[in-house]
Amino acid sequence: MRILLLGNSGQLGWELQRALPCLGEVTALDYPEVDFSQPDSLRGVVAWADPSVVINAVAYTAVDRAEQEPWLAQAVNATAPGVLAQECAVRKAVFIHYSTDYVFDGLKDAPYTEDDQPHPRGVYSQSKWAGEQAVLAVDCAALVLRTSWLYSCRRDNFVLKVLQWARKNPMVRIAADQYGSPTWARLLAEITAQMLAGSTAWPDYFQQRRGIYHLAGEGSASRYEWAEEILKLDPRKEEWLMQQLQPAAAADFPATAPRPMNSALNCDRFAKTFGLRLPAWREGLKLMMAQG
Ligand SMILES: NC(=O)c1ccc[n+]([C@@H]2O[C@H](COP(=O)([O-])OP(=O)(O)OC[C@H]3O[C@@H](n4cnc5c(N)ncnc54)[C@H](OP(=O)(O)O)[C@@H]3O)[C@@H](O)[C@H]2O)c1
Repeated sequence: MRILLLGNSGQLGWELQRALPCLGEVTALDYPEVDFSQPDSLRGVVAWADPSVVINAVAYTAVDRAEQEPWLAQAVNATAPGVLAQECAVRKAVFIHYSTDYVFDGLKDAPYTEDDQPHPRGVYSQSKWAGEQAVLAVDCAALVLRTSWLYSCRRDNFVLKVLQWARKNPMVRIAADQYGSPTWARLLAEITAQMLAGSTAWPDYFQQRRGIYHLAGEGSASRYEWAEEILKLDPRKEEWLMQQLQPAAAADFPATAPRPMNSALNCDRFAKTFGLRLPAWREGLKLMMAQG
């Protein structure tokens, strides 16, 4: 298997770079070797790598900044993935693309399934949904894996922020009315590799299963419950300034771009199709926090 991995310095891409080499030869590229703001430039990159699988972990993920740079979010999150899908179709390569729980408006009071209609609010969310459509408009063996509340041991994410806040503030207030499915990037990378390894007659296997799948830590939590669990597992509590963790309303933290109040994902379709499921979100968090 020749794998072209794009975005290997991001949270997920970093973990994919770790998980994929057991499957074959991996070419891993990130900005500036590849520039998704210039979508057509990716055609030459794919031709040069001549892959049997393309995995796209690149995204413009600055949710608030996207409101000021809609053209860039659209190029990186929508136009470029569409170009990659076209190049995969030409080569009969499998295409794995990731998307987001933020395609939903958050008004449903249960976890979202793939049959629920997206209604993205804000530039980032709209560009990611446009990316899903651009990928699936091309007739190729493409899987769009929607995940939620991604975190890892590196870069900017909620888990690392909560640990920092506890060290810097006597009181930490966290929204208790916003729900999602926390997902450790390492487990998402590993399940992607397992899914690829489990196939036999591909690309036909993936062509027959092309489409959207939800893939996130099992279950759901409010941000407050998530923060409670992060702090419970913190091995260095002696460094805390924090004396109180207080539940708050998401409305107390105004942001430039809107966020869904509920974006938990139901992952049954992926489990039924590939026989794989991510562990419960608390288990994933425990594993990540045990890394130290
Ligand atoms: N983070 C979340 O909470 C979350 C939640 C749900 C879904 N997702 C989705 O999950 C996937 C992975 O997210 P992540 O958190 O791993 O993202 P991330 O850490 O922000 O990584 C994104 C990667 O894309 C690269 N990139 C950005 N603009 C680029 C450009 N113009 N050209 C080339 N590369 C560029 C970044 O490069 P630099 O290192 O140079 O910045 C980085 O390596 C994305 O599809 C995202 O939409 C994320």
